[in-house]
Amino acid sequence: MAGSSLEPAGRAWWRHAAIYQIYVRSFADGDGDGTGDLAGVRARLPYLVELGVDALWFTPWYLSPLADGGYDVADYRTIDPAFGTLAEAEKLIAEAREHGIRTIIDIVPNHVSDQHAWFRAALAAGPGSPERELFHFRPGRGVNGELPPNYWVSEFGGTPWTRLDDGEWYLHLFAPEQPDLNWAHPAVRREHEDVLRFWFERGVAGVRIDSAALLAKDPALPDFTPGRDPHPYTDRNELHGIYRSWRAIADEYDAVFVGEVWLPDTERFVRYLRPDELHTAFNFTFMACPWEARRLRAAIDETLAEHAPVGAPATWVLCNHDVTRTVTRYGRAQTGFDFAAKAFGTPTDHALGTRRARAGALLSLALPGAVYIYQGEELGLPEADIPLDRIQDPMHVRSGGTDPGRDGCRVPLPWSADAPYAGFGSRTRPWLPQPASWPSYAADRQERDPDSMLCLYRAALRLRRMEQGFGAPALGWLAAGPEVLAFRRDTDCSGEALICVVNLGREPAELPEHRAVLLTSGPLDDAGRLPTDTAVWLRG
Ligand code: GLC
Repeated sequence: MAGSSLEPAGRAWWRHAAIYQIYVRSFADGDGDGTGDLAGVRARLPYLVELGVDALWFTPWYLSPLADGGYDVADYRTIDPAFGTLAEAEKLIAEAREHGIRTIIDIVPNHVSDQHAWFRAALAAGPGSPERELFHFRPGRGVNGELPPNYWVSEFGGTPWTRLDDGEWYLHLFAPEQPDLNWAHPAVRREHEDVLRFWFERGVAGVRIDSAALLAKDPALPDFTPGRDPHPYTDRNELHGIYRSWRAIADEYDAVFVGEVWLPDTERFVRYLRPDELHTAFNFTFMACPWEARRLRAAIDETLAEHAPVGAPATWVLCNHDVTRTVTRYGRAQTGFDFAAKAFGTPTDHALGTRRARAGALLSLALPGAVYIYQGEELGLPEADIPLDRIQDPMHVRSGGTDPGRDGCRVPLPWSADAPYAGFGSRTRPWLPQPASWPSYAADRQERDPDSMLCLYRAALRLRRMEQGFGAPALGWLAAGPEVLAFRRDTDCSGEALICVVNLGREPAELPEHRAVLLTSGPLDDAGRLPTDTAVWLRG
């Protein structure tokens, strides 16, 4: 990308970027049909400029039957007509870049849609055909092949195998509409390398890799006991060769990767971040942390320590399209991150959650590395309750109806308090219903309220760009009580530091010595102390 190569290597844009995640279907509806689209995003570019983000990550926008919100891709080189056209995507990428905003797209290499040309050809060609070798087709077990080929469990629950009329079964680690590709096949590798070039040629600056640790499979697809046997489909060594060849392509275009790598073993996790592999990966340890000082500090320390030897920047994420919204999560007694096994009707204290989400925003934006902001977090949206008959997420159905699924964080955004559907842009009802409270979160209302979440995010992102202290590569902890997170980021040259203090305890906390108060997530008390569940940025 123009620009990034001019920056000193240690300050390359992706090492410290604020990246805004756009779930296209729910961002803004440009043509009024009830579904968000690229026209909606283009119309809202000024909002994103004003917000102050450096890059946009678009969840999949390709042709898709939307059996899993677009993570079932039927054709990587076509934009889904519900979202727009390829020409429009090209315009959007260029227009955003003119505003200094880069584009990151989402590639889903583990699987395709069952409507993808390859899978349709594989079905038509029948057992034993070369077309089926691109996927994992197997005969079943049992006398008549009536049992699935193994006893693996789908990421969405239940068996990951579906049987066809011709008797063969095919593997899908997610929904049946998402058949897994066979990454041992050279055509699968070639095709993905081609897809990367296709998008890099169109000005895309980065790629998010979906389910990045799941692609490679043990060809025997064996049963296994977790913890005892080598895992047949997670974090297999073959993956590193795949990502090294991807990296060589990205380097030709000065483009970057962010991997969705869910691995509890940090030593294994950072292997993906070696200098000739992925530039970054999502840090789910931090996201999964409850609102507890000790746990958060440990997650921050571990994250920074594990990234240091490979020279990769950390990433900080509070929320995404798969997990419960931050405000709701932090308002609960138990604040796990809830990817799966959510429960209906878990009580939440909304005011508490909002206060903590405000403080959490300042915390995540003050840490060294790149930060991701999921659309609607800057509006402080809570998780929505979706009526049962309107739930679309396959996770709900696959859980036997016990898990509400992920739609509650995917509700169309509120833009204008007084417009139909809170200004989402639809003339007809949006694809997911908005709660009655939505107008009160509308961007136009928050713009006029200096105490709103939106104004907090704007101010924080502006300071994050302007203040010298944010350029410091590391952080140092300051002495504070066990319930207080306090750290400094000192620059070598200017002598200026950023200090961030977050009070997670019950008592107000004294501020450390400082030159100026830059921003607070809530008012200081009369004695100038930091109240419970509040964060402050200071210039040191
Ligand atoms: C990732 C995505 C999620 C999707 C799954 C299957 O976890 O973030 O939304 O359902 O992969 O592609």
